[in-house]
Amino acid sequence: MTTTRTATGTTVLQATGVTMRFGGLTAVRSVDLTVNTGEIVGLIGPNGAGKTTFFNCLTGLYVPTEGTVAYKGTVLPPKPHLVTQAGIARTFQNIRLFANMTVLENVLVGRHTRTKEGLWSALLRGPGFKKAERESEERAMELLEFIGLAQKRDHLARNLPYGDQRKLEIARALASDPGLLLLDEPTAGMNPQETRTTEELVFAIRDQGIAVLVIEHDMRFIFNLCDRVACLVQGEKLVEGTSETVQSDERVVAAYLGTPFEGAPEDSAIEEVVAAEKAAHPDGTDSGTSTARPEGDDQ
Ligand SMILES: Nc1ncnc2c1ncn2[C@@H]1O[C@H](COP(=O)(O)OP(=O)(O)OP(=O)(O)O)[C@@H](O)[C@H]1O
Ligand SMILES: [Mg+2]
Repeated sequence: MTTTRTATGTTVLQATGVTMRFGGLTAVRSVDLTVNTGEIVGLIGPNGAGKTTFFNCLTGLYVPTEGTVAYKGTVLPPKPHLVTQAGIARTFQNIRLFANMTVLENVLVGRHTRTKEGLWSALLRGPGFKKAERESEERAMELLEFIGLAQKRDHLARNLPYGDQRKLEIARALASDPGLLLLDEPTAGMNPQETRTTEELVFAIRDQGIAVLVIEHDMRFIFNLCDRVACLVQGEKLVEGTSETVQSDERVVAAYLGTPFEGAPEDSAIEEVVAAEKAAHPDGTDSGTSTARPEGDDQ
């Protein structure tokens, strides 16, 4: 079971009966999901299962056809800025940074929901603005230190290596001081070393008291990291449980690999080859095309 963190934790996110239909397609079907304080929860499922659509419903980018999303006991209106203000931050599957802004500026943009100074004050550089700006910059630099990008504060986002861009997105999301962070494929395109660093980063974020809900296709990453994992298949939550439970659930394996069925293409292809072999050697002579590998050949 998970640690005392979940035992003592309160509910941060409660999604109830979330359904999202696009015309005739039901991308998410009546999904319930809870995330508690101190938890890292994983959301897995094959391509097109509805994971990102579910995130979009949680963050107000989509208005769910049915269902509600509550943050710390309050049902959220489906408006992205109100969701961010309430305390939910996210990163995107396709990185969305301001490419021509610096690393620091990108984090400062993420900070604006937490500053009292409004847009006009910022543009006119009013009296309260300078102080607020200094404080924001200090916080942004703290975050860049935390994420490991402080040295690159003045680099343009577009010049960062891919892995650093993903990290910067996380720093920008953290700048809104969230209580819940949603990560959509944070290690996509990363090498194993970068993935490992991201894993440690997510643990560190959790240790700061921020609950995390993470979508990933990298199963090693998910099962190492998560207290609980939910698997979506064709919009429905198929299985939910600890990493151990989900890992060994044959429905999850079948959903990823596709359940084998009678007359699958692989079988017929094999039969065709066997028939062709027979036709070429009707007397049963050895064709020399045995699939068995010689001993010691591990290529
Ligand atoms: N705005 C939209 N309009 C119509 N259909 C959509 C829209 N957004 C998503 N879909 C469809 O909803 C289904 C779920 O897509 P979604 O992107 O949520 O899957 P996913 O689980 O995130 O997949 P992946 O692992 O590939 O990112 C897909 O069939 C997709 O084509
Ligand atoms: Mg997706």
